[in-house]
This record gives sequence, C-alpha cells and structure tokens, in this order.
Amino acid sequence: MKVLNQNLLITGGASGIGKIMGRIAIERGAKSVVIWDINEKNMQAVKAEHEKIGKASVYCFKVDVSDNESVQAAYKETVKATGSVDILINCAGIVTSNKPFAQNTASEIERTVRINTIAPMYVALAVINDMIARDHGHICTIASAAGMLSNPKMSAYAASKWGAIGWSDSLRIELSAAKSKVRVTTVAPYYINTGMFDGVQSKIFPILDPEKTSAKIISAIERDVDFKGIPFPFHFIRFWQGVLPTRFFDWFFGEVFGIYHTMDHFTGRKS
Ligand SMILES: NC(=O)c1ccc[n+]([C@@H]2O[C@H](COP(=O)([O-])OP(=O)(O)OC[C@H]3O[C@@H](n4cnc5c(N)ncnc54)[C@H](O)[C@@H]3O)[C@@H](O)[C@H]2O)c1
Repeated sequence: MKVLNQNLLITGGASGIGKIMGRIAIERGAKSVVIWDINEKNMQAVKAEHEKIGKASVYCFKVDVSDNESVQAAYKETVKATGSVDILINCAGIVTSNKPFAQNTASEIERTVRINTIAPMYVALAVINDMIARDHGHICTIASAAGMLSNPKMSAYAASKWGAIGWSDSLRIELSAAKSKVRVTTVAPYYINTGMFDGVQSKIFPILDPEKTSAKIISAIERDVDFKGIPFPFHFIRFWQGVLPTRFFDWFFGEVFGIYHTMDHFTGRKS
C-alpha cells in the first residue's frame, strides 16, 4: 500500500529505523504519523523533528506495547486523533544481552518475548478488526534474520523473532485466504547500525545502513511484499538449512561466514 495520504502507526518510532521510517513516510506524502513508544523524551524530540518537515500531522503516545490495556487505550486515542490507522509498522523491540542461555534470567526471557513477540500481536489485534471492516490496511512487522538463523548468545531474542515471523506470516496467509485487501509484510533484517546491537562484528555480511534499510522497508510496504529478508541472500537461509546437513550449515554460516561469533563483542546501546 502506498503511504501517500495514509495514516501510519509506528511502534518504537522514537529511535533507530522506526524514527527514520516515520520521516521517510512523511517525505513520501503520508497524511499522519503516530508514534507509540515507551521513551517519552525521545518521542517528543522525534515529533518535533518530523513536524519540521511540515507535510503531515505527527502524534505521539507513551505506550508500553507489551501491556495490552495500554495498547487498547492508545488505539482509541489514536483513532480519535487520526480517524483510522491505515498502516501499522510493528517496530518496537529489545535485546537484553549477549549472555549464553544458561545465564539468562527468567525476567529477561519474559521481557524479550513480551516485547518482541506478544506485543506485535496485541497491537495488530487492536487495529485489525477496523482494517478488515474497511477492507483497507497494511500490517508490517519488523522481525529479524535471527528469526531464521539460531545465532548463539541471543537465544531469547532469536526465539522471540522466530515467533514474530511465524505469527506475522500466518496472519498474511489467513487474510489472503479470506481475500482481504489487508496486506501483511514480514521483515527479517540482518544487523543494522542503529546502536541497538553496538559492538557486534560481522566478518562477511556488512552491517546494514539504517537509512537504506528503512527506505527498503517502506518500499516493501508500498509494493505489498510478503516477506523481505535484508540483504537479499537472507531469503535463502531456509533453503540452505533444508538442503545442508546441520553440522555443515553450522560450520559454513557460523564459522566460515563468522555469523555465530557476531555477538562475541556485543555491548548494546550504552545510553
Ligand atoms: N538494529 C538491528 O541490528 C536490528 C536487526 C534486525 C532487526 N531489528 C529489529 O528492528 C526493530 C527496530 O530496531 P532499532 O535498531 O531501530 O532499535 P532501537 O533500539 O533504536 O529502537 C527501538 C524502539 O523501541 C522502543 N521500545 C522498546 N520497548 C518498548 C515497549 N515495551 N513499548 C514501546 N516501545 C518500546 C524503544 O524505546 C526504542 O525507541 C526492533 O524490533 C529490532 O529487534 C534490529
């Protein structure tokens, strides 16, 4: 769905690619951009930046997307402000550490799954019935390449993104079977240089540029792409997992490409 004249809701829109996608949507003629984020200070700063572009209404609501009551309440406020949500981009996400699984705490695991897997479902649940009733809408979920490649030292994150991909793609198939015009795009990017994964080192595949990645995601929404792996070779991960013996896959992608060591020097965003 073209973003021109549409109302966009972007969770996690106060930072990283969520922030950039908001700006790009405004530049491409969106009618409004609504940011839902937990970080009030960043959100107000981003709202002011977006408003300087001057072409769209910008709203922001402080929401913990992993809290369903807050999500439902924020949706009511959003509809009051904009009339409708035409495009939802589920972008809010967290990573807690690069610890081996055995050193994770139960609360780290729970928080990761609540924010990365369950929250996109809560937000989609809030918007979807209105979208179906209007037979108009698009739900894009930013998962991760970690949702296809079980990278070590990020097991809870990988699990959460694996779940996000499964849910989002299932939703796509349901809507398509119902001949709905509501579209779904699932996005699985490799590391992006936003700060979230500061310290990661990638031997072969370059760390992605946030600006280019954000533009690719908005273009994927505009072209109703079902599944977008970034970079393109990541579309074939499942193929290689299917045809190669597991030990060979682990050696080739993990050791030769070095992907299984990318998290070794992870620090994450410091502030
Ligand atoms: N950066 C990467 O390398 C990378 C790679 C693949 C996928 N992703 C995914 O892309 C998305 C955006 O990543 P980014 O790098 O722009 O991250 P970021 O940390 O810059 O932005 C994430 C935003 O989500 C918000 N947020 C976190 N928890 C929230 C909650 N409970 N409720 C509401 N808002 C909340 C944060 O305040 C922040 O503004 C995430 O889902 C991430 O998992 C990132």
